[in-house]
Amino acid sequence: MIVALLNQLFEAREEGQARDVVASILNVLVEYTLVHFANEERLMLAVGFPDHSLHCGKHEDFANKLHVLRRQYDCGHHGAVDELVEILKNWLVEHIVDEDTLIGSWIAGAGLGDGAVAMISRMTPAADD
Ligand SMILES: [Fe+2]
Repeated sequence: MIVALLNQLFEAREEGQARDVVASILNVLVEYTLVHFANEERLMLAVGFPDHSLHCGKHEDFANKLHVLRRQYDCGHHGAVDELVEILKNWLVEHIVDEDTLIGSWIAGAGLGDGAVAMISRMTPAADD
């Protein structure tokens, strides 16, 4: 979902869509990312992930960055969208590869796979939500 929204945002910018169209996609992207973080944080708590606080801190730092870039865009700094797409893309890849996989390993190691999958399926909105 985040990747799809990133693509929409990139395409809207490339096509020179109106500012309110770009702002709308940007808002959905930021809000969805925050929901994603919140869900992941609930999952970490539910499975007793030992580095929950450290991981939440990384989400919080990134969420603050998203808020700053959205604010900059709202204030007329159009380059903020390009910066956001680049940062989000790079951060997501690094975070998923380096950090989120640790949660998956913890869940697998603790034998909590089935319960975690059920919990994730209840959290994840459908693609058309
Ligand atoms: Fe994460």
